[in-house]
Amino acid sequence: MRSGELRVRRLARISGEIEVPGDKSISHRAAIIAGLSDGPCRISNYLASEDCLNTLRAMERLGVQCDGDVSGDVEGAARELVVHGCGGELEPAGGSIDCGNSGTGMRLLTGVLAAQPFSSILAGDASLSKRPMSRVIRPLAQMGARIEAQGEREGCAPLKIIGTRLQGTRYKLPVASAQVKSAILLAGVFAKGKTTVVQPVATRDHTERMLAKFRVRTVRDGDEISVYGGQRLRAADIEVPGDLSSAAFWIVAAAANPKSKLLVKNVGLNPTRTAILPVLLRMGAKIKDRALTPEDAGEPAGHIVVEGAALRGTGIRPDEVPNLIDEIPVLAVAGALAQGRMVIRQAAELRVKETDRIAAVCENLREMGAEVEEFEDGLEIEGGRRLRGAVLDSYGDHRIAMAFAVAGLFAEGETVITGTDCIATSYPGFEAQLREIRGRAGR
Ligand code: S3P
Repeated sequence: MRSGELRVRRLARISGEIEVPGDKSISHRAAIIAGLSDGPCRISNYLASEDCLNTLRAMERLGVQCDGDVSGDVEGAARELVVHGCGGELEPAGGSIDCGNSGTGMRLLTGVLAAQPFSSILAGDASLSKRPMSRVIRPLAQMGARIEAQGEREGCAPLKIIGTRLQGTRYKLPVASAQVKSAILLAGVFAKGKTTVVQPVATRDHTERMLAKFRVRTVRDGDEISVYGGQRLRAADIEVPGDLSSAAFWIVAAAANPKSKLLVKNVGLNPTRTAILPVLLRMGAKIKDRALTPEDAGEPAGHIVVEGAALRGTGIRPDEVPNLIDEIPVLAVAGALAQGRMVIRQAAELRVKETDRIAAVCENLREMGAEVEEFEDGLEIEGGRRLRGAVLDSYGDHRIAMAFAVAGLFAEGETVITGTDCIATSYPGFEAQLREIRGRAGR
């Protein structure tokens, strides 16, 4: 059941400083990799969102002790946790594990559980039960895994994973997906011999970086990433930086308003995640980023300063798409606010996210009066039309809800977004920060 509603009006400017909650991708990996390690790991700034709390609870169900308040009753609070790694030996959960709305949680856990000597069932909500899981089942089956997709739709969750001893493999990803790459590499850590993943385009590399921190070596050779099985994960502490994909909503809100100047503090600047910044620069925004973490910190993080401008449309190159896949809904909003044409193609992956994001973005932009053309693999926007407030659906997708909250900051009249409870999957506290930003703007 979708509930919650967000009402948004035009905002004069966005200024001052902002900090966003911890990175979703890194938090999932922290819970899983720390849980598999050989001792206690302190995790700072864990993202206490529904998705990441589901992954943490999954690890607890699998016998990993996690200390710290993980009740989920949070408003974007930074979380300090201690995860007591089980030395690679999980315990059967005894019943189905709920991954909620999270593709990352389900796919990464599938890779891990395929190599454990017991059976598990991973289930998810209505949206997750429609998303393609054969993309992880296929490569893991090639490693000897036995996984049954038991959902109503073919290749979809619930997944029954009958754990077994896996054999290393070489697998070429048909679609650029960090989730699938990570599932294979995590399985590879527990498999016999060498496992190699070949990616068509570089995807986010948080798994490789975190494995290195836990002293598991992966080798990158061009498009190929390999790991040798049998390596022990040595306990380590993790500091999760702010999530650039969450910051993207404020970055676009500031970039598209010439009166704005915003400092985003302590945000992840991993180069496999930052493609939104050059796209906005091409659109005319003034953006400076400065990494403040030492080179060997694992994940680069720092500050971003955004100065607003009158934006112009641009094309997003196909090789940029995997690097900014989660930012496309809000970039499409930037495109509608810009003068000229914004072209987003070869992005069919957007159709199999938490909702069909191409359809949802096109529908909502049209409702606001924008000129949009929909394609199977993307969309084109003729920017510069005045946006008007409208009643919009989130389609149960957190990024659609937040992208259109940003659009509402530029529209005439009131924008009402329905079904906004989903925002809690990645960004608890978004609404409170929106109120605070409005307060600062003096209206
Ligand atoms: C993620 C990878 C991306 C992204 C998702 C998080 C990850 O998905 O959309 O929000 O943490 O690895 P794909 O790798 O499947 O494209």
